[in-house]
Amino acid sequence: MEVKEPDLTVNIGKLHLTNPIMTASGTFGYGEEYEDFLDLNKLGAIVVKGISVNPRCGNPPPRIIETPCGMLNAIGLENPGLEAFLREKLPRIRKYRCKIIVNILGETLDEYEILAERLENSSISAIEVNISCPNVKKGGVAFGTDAKMIYSVTKCVRQKTNKPLIIKLSPNVTDITAMALAAEEGGADAISLINTLLGMAIDIKTHKPKLANKVGGLSGPAIKPIALRMVWQVAERVKIPVIGIGGICTTEDVIEFLLAGATAIQVGTANFINPATAEDMIVGLEKYMTENKIQTISEIIHGLII
Ligand SMILES: Cc1cc2nc3c(=O)[nH]c(=O)nc-3n(C[C@H](O)[C@H](O)[C@H](O)COP(=O)(O)O)c2cc1C
Repeated sequence: MEVKEPDLTVNIGKLHLTNPIMTASGTFGYGEEYEDFLDLNKLGAIVVKGISVNPRCGNPPPRIIETPCGMLNAIGLENPGLEAFLREKLPRIRKYRCKIIVNILGETLDEYEILAERLENSSISAIEVNISCPNVKKGGVAFGTDAKMIYSVTKCVRQKTNKPLIIKLSPNVTDITAMALAAEEGGADAISLINTLLGMAIDIKTHKPKLANKVGGLSGPAIKPIALRMVWQVAERVKIPVIGIGGICTTEDVIEFLLAGATAIQVGTANFINPATAEDMIVGLEKYMTENKIQTISEIIHGLII
C-alpha cells in the first residue's frame, strides 16, 4: 500500500496542531521577527518569548556566549510585560493560522495567577509555564527544582485557566520524573522539557566570567542527548503528552524525540543558525513518513525498541 499524504496532525490535550513542530520560547521572538524567513502559517505552533506581569529589562551584557555545539544565555527574561504583549505583539501574529502558545513566568504564585487569569479571555491557544524562575517568597529557590512548588504553581494556574496548560520543566534537578509527576498531579495537560542547563564560561585573560550574570543557560546540540534521555524517562512515567525540547536541529532529531515518546517538539537554538529550520523539519518529516509508509505521527511516538 502506498502512503500518499501522511497525516502530521497531533493533539496535545485539547490543543490540535497541524504538525508536531513548534518554535521554542525565547528563540523566535513574538513570531513576526521571523516572517521574512519562513511561512509562519505552516508551523504547528509558535511559543512566544516568556511574558511576566510587569516589563523586565533583563540582565546587563554580555548575555550571550557561544560554546562548543551550543550557547550560553543569561538574557534575564527581558520582555515588554503582559499588557504590552496583548496590546502590541499578539494582534500582529494573530493573522497567521498557526497556534500561539504564551510562555509565562512569575516570581510568586500570585504573578502566575494574574497572568493565567488575564490570558484566559484572549485569543491565545495555550499557556506554557516557565517554572525555571526564582520564587522570591521562598528565598529565591527556582520553582522548577522542587516537586511541591511545581505542584503548587501548576494547581494555581490550573484553577485560573481552561486553556491547555503546559508545564515546562527545568533539567537542573536530580529526578526529572518526580518533577513531571508533580506537574501531572497538579493538573497539567502536557509537559514540555527541557529548559536550559545551568552553565558557565570564564575569560582566561581577565579571569572573569564571560557572562555579566556569571552563569547562564546552556542550549543547542550540546544538550540534545540529555534532553532526549529526560524526555524518554518522563514519557515512560506520565499519562499526559510530552513535548520534547533541547538541541533539536534536524528532521532526524525530531524523529528521535518522537520515538522516545514525545508527541511534539520545539526548535530553539537552531532558529539562530537557520531561521527556516522549523519549516524544513515539517517538509523532512512528511518525506520520512512517505518513504517509510507511515500514515500518522502516532505510529512513530513511543516507537523506541529496547
Ligand atoms: C536566548 C534564549 C532565550 C530563552 N528564553 C526563554 C524564555 O523566555 N522562556 C522559556 O521558557 N525558555 C526560554 N529559553 C529556553 C528555550 O525555550 C529552550 O527550552 C532551550 O533553549 C533548549 O532548547 P534548544 O537547545 O533547542 O535551544 C530560551 C533559550 C534561549 C537560547
